[in-house]
Amino acid sequence: MNLHAAKQIGEEGVGGVAVHTENLTCTFGAICAVDHVTLRVPSGTIFGLLGPTGAGKTTTIRLLLGLLEPTAGSAMVLGYDIHTQGDRIRQHTGALLAYSGLYDRLTALENLDFFGRIWHMSAGDRRSRAKELLNSLGLWEQRDQLVGGWDRGQRRKLSLARAIFHQPALVFIDEPSDRLSPAESEAIWTDLDNLAARESMTVFLATRDLAEAEALCSAVAIMRQGRILEVGSLAELRARTAAPQLEIVGRGFTDQVIALVSRRPEVASARRIDNRLVLQLAGDYDTAPLVSLLVEASADVEEVHKHQPALYAAFTTLTQEAPEEESP
Ligand SMILES: Nc1ncnc2c1ncn2[C@@H]1O[C@H](COP(=O)(O)OP(=O)(O)OP(=O)(O)O)[C@@H](O)[C@H]1O
Ligand SMILES: [Mg+2]
Repeated sequence: MNLHAAKQIGEEGVGGVAVHTENLTCTFGAICAVDHVTLRVPSGTIFGLLGPTGAGKTTTIRLLLGLLEPTAGSAMVLGYDIHTQGDRIRQHTGALLAYSGLYDRLTALENLDFFGRIWHMSAGDRRSRAKELLNSLGLWEQRDQLVGGWDRGQRRKLSLARAIFHQPALVFIDEPSDRLSPAESEAIWTDLDNLAARESMTVFLATRDLAEAEALCSAVAIMRQGRILEVGSLAELRARTAAPQLEIVGRGFTDQVIALVSRRPEVASARRIDNRLVLQLAGDYDTAPLVSLLVEASADVEEVHKHQPALYAAFTTLTQEAPEEESP
């Protein structure tokens, strides 16, 4: 194949849409694994499909790679139709799925060379691409070692190199840090982030791990039970899904004072922890009137801190408060 064809599509797609699905649906018997999913993934971004186990993330990727026939709906990937152009899609994209795809009895360099041959790359291109990627991933010194002896973190990096060896415009990555240590996870996130930026690659990432999405994704779609619940940047989702907390340090937070602030419409709940009064707000309200109220009630206010809710709480809200079933 023309090695640069994929790249050109990517460049044409700047400001464009790398993946576009319309009511994409896939059922397995009674299970609706992917349920009317409509998504647009802008070119050149790292887009996260974020959801718990069984949400339908891997099934979505398999549909987008043309490996699985949808029950209903449609999708275009780099301008190719998943129904009829699966071969084209697989030619122009990379994929890092559950299996490493590496050969334990080959060295790192031999592994990459082997994949380069599959992509019909010239010997010179294979060598220079392998050197470039292994250097970026800090693996060049180990290029002649058999990968069977490598640890999981190193193997995952090499799998990433394998997935993007042919310079695809778009790569699908399923749970890149699955079963890696925190240090190994951070290393692969850094590498992926750097490579995606350097190669102007669109990344379609499926993950259960909020920290991973937070480290990498400019936008996420929250998926649960086959459905997309929300789409946006994590900051937008955070702001949309939970209200801030007000933490007031001081003295004199008596039961009467707590009862008084609890009656305010801005306050969802109030509790005292040691010398702190913690107010869960009902929305993003101005907090000055609450502080004035406390002072008027003779509380001694020393410090006031407003916290944005933890992303974990936002994610829990998003994934747990979805309606179980829509009414017909
Ligand atoms: N080939 C299949 N046959 C039957 N059911 C399947 C098949 N593949 C997936 N499923 C079901 O579809 C649903 C979605 O599965 P999928 O693997 O896409 O979820 P996921 O979000 O990738 O989960 P995980 O985070 O565990 O990888 C699950 O209920 C799963 O059991
Ligand atoms: Mg999965």
